[in-house]
Amino acid sequence: MPDYDLLKEQIKGFLETDPFYVPAMANASALLWAALDDINWAGFYIVRNGMLVLGPFQGKAACIHIKKGKGVCGTAWDKDETQLVPDVHEFPGHIACDSASNSEIVVPIHDKDGNVVAVLDIDSPSLNRFNETDKNGLTCFAEELERALVWD
Ligand code: SME
Repeated sequence: MPDYDLLKEQIKGFLETDPFYVPAMANASALLWAALDDINWAGFYIVRNGMLVLGPFQGKAACIHIKKGKGVCGTAWDKDETQLVPDVHEFPGHIACDSASNSEIVVPIHDKDGNVVAVLDIDSPSLNRFNETDKNGLTCFAEELERALVWD
């Protein structure tokens, strides 16, 4: 299990250095990529022009646009709810950017008014990779980003 308290302190440090979303999300992806085992993608989609657009990430090249309500990411945005998916093949409309992915967690990220402005997406080649501890740890991690991110 990753040390989510340490991850939180690490992203806080990066955000204090520069809260601009590009370096913050790039380093957030890199931290998660290094700390979580058995994953094949970790990164962000950002709400832009009424869609999700690919943001900073680690892993294979991925689909660029996702519509609201589509796939796991679009569902997390639409419902404003973390999606913990033990088997992506059972998730209606799952978007298979990498055929190696078998489970996935997507956490919404909000602005100060509570609107979803991005999602954090992590994929695993294993079934049932993510649990409630991951959900809680990643939610706290996302909250650090929510507190500090600057978008322009
Ligand atoms: N599987 C996601 C798409 C993004 S990739 O996993 C990087 C989804 O269904 O929304």
